[in-house]
Amino acid sequence: MDFHLSEEHEMIRKMVHDFAEAEIAPTASKRDEEEKFDRSIFEHMAELGLTGIPWPEMYGGIGSDFLAYCIAVEELSRFCASTGVTLSAHTSLASWPLFKFGSEEQKRKYLTPLAKGEKLGAYGLTESGSGSDAGAMKTTARLEGDYYILNGSKIFITNGGEADIYVVFALTDPANKHKGTTAFIVEKDFPGFLIGKKEKKMGIRSSPTTEIIFDQCKIPKENILGNEGEGFKIAMMTLDGGRNGIAAQAVGIAQGALDAATAYAKERHQFGKPIIANQGISFKLADMATLVEAARLLTYQAAWLESNGLPYSKESAMSKLFAGDAAMKVTTEAVQIFGGYGYTKDYPVERFMRDAKITQIYEGTQEIQRMVIARALAK
Ligand code: CAA
Repeated sequence: MDFHLSEEHEMIRKMVHDFAEAEIAPTASKRDEEEKFDRSIFEHMAELGLTGIPWPEMYGGIGSDFLAYCIAVEELSRFCASTGVTLSAHTSLASWPLFKFGSEEQKRKYLTPLAKGEKLGAYGLTESGSGSDAGAMKTTARLEGDYYILNGSKIFITNGGEADIYVVFALTDPANKHKGTTAFIVEKDFPGFLIGKKEKKMGIRSSPTTEIIFDQCKIPKENILGNEGEGFKIAMMTLDGGRNGIAAQAVGIAQGALDAATAYAKERHQFGKPIIANQGISFKLADMATLVEAARLLTYQAAWLESNGLPYSKESAMSKLFAGDAAMKVTTEAVQIFGGYGYTKDYPVERFMRDAKITQIYEGTQEIQRMVIARALAK
C-alpha cells in the first residue's frame, strides 16, 4: 500500500490549486452574491485540459484517471464550490454515461466536444414528484418515425440553461416503470427543449440550477443512449461515480474552511494571545483537520477503485456520506472560530457553510447513501 500521490497527480493538484487561487478565488464571493455563472472560467479550465481529465486523448481528454479528476474538483472547491460542481456535473454526470454507454459515433459527436470543453454538459433525472424515488419519473418518450418525442420536465438541473448537451431519462414504456426507462442525448437547440425556472439557492449560487422542459421535444432516434429499457441502470451507474465527485467537492469545501479558520485563529488575538492558544479553539481545529483527512482518504479510495476497474458503488456512497457530513461540521465550526466576523460576508466561511449543505442533499441525500450502503451489505 502506498499513500503517496503519483507525480502526475501531484502535478495536476498544483496546477489546479494555482489556477483556482489566482483565477477563481478573487471573484468567488461576487459571483456568489450575484448568482452569476462565468463561462470564461469553464473555458479557461478547458485550456488546462480539466474538462476531459479521465477520457482518452482520442476523445479529446487528457487520458488521466478518476483520482486526478477528484483532485481537480477538490482543489476548485477549496476556493469556489460552484466551480467544483460545474466540473463535477460536466464530467461525472454528462460525459461519463457517454463514455460508458455511447456508440463510437456518439463518443465522437458528443463526448469529444465535452472533453475538450467546447461544450458544457448536464444530466436530467430528478422531477418534481421523483427525487429520492428516481424510478417514479413521469417524463415520457414515444417513437414516431425517426424521432423520439419527449414530454415532461426535469428539475434541479446543475449547469441548466448554460449546458449545450443534456443526458436525460424518460419512460419509453410507462407501464414498466424502471425497466421501461431510457436514456437520451439532448442538444439545447432541439425543437421543444426549453429552459424553465432558475432556482434561487442557499449555496453554490454561481452554479446555475434550472428546470428543463420537454414540450413535444423532437430527438433523433440515433440519440438514444444505450438500449430502450436500460435507462434506469445507466442513471444509477452514472450516480455511483458522480457521488464521489460530490465527495471530492465536500473535501475541498472543508479544506477551504479549515485553511481559513486556522489562519484566522493564529492571527486573531483576544485576552492578549492568539485564539489558537486556547484549547477550546485548537481542539476544534484538530477535530476539523482529522475529519478532512478521513474524508479525503475515503474519496481517493473510491476514485482509485474506479480508476482500477474495481467495484466502487458502496465506497462512493460512503465517501459522499462521510465527506458531506464532514464538510457541514467543519464549515460550521469554521464560522464559530471566526465568531461574529464569520457570520458576515467579509470572510468566505459563511459561503463555505452554505455551500457545504448541498453536499448532504444532491446526487442522493445522505439517507439514500445509507440505503445504497445497507443494500450492498445485505447482498
Ligand atoms: N448500478 C447498476 N444497477 C443498479 C444500481 C447501480 N448502482 N442501483 C440499482 N440498480 C438496478 C437494480 O439492480 C435493479 O435492476 P433489476 O430491476 O434488473 O433488478 C434496478 O436498478 C432497480 O433497483 P432498485 O430496486 O434498487 O431501485 P429503487 O427504486 O429501490 O431505487 C435508489 C434505488 C438507490 C433509492 C435510487 O432510486 C436512487 O439512487 N435514488 C436517489 C436518486 C438520486 O441520487 N438523485 C440525484 C439526482 S442527480 C443530482 O442531484 C445531480 C446534480 O444536479 C448535481
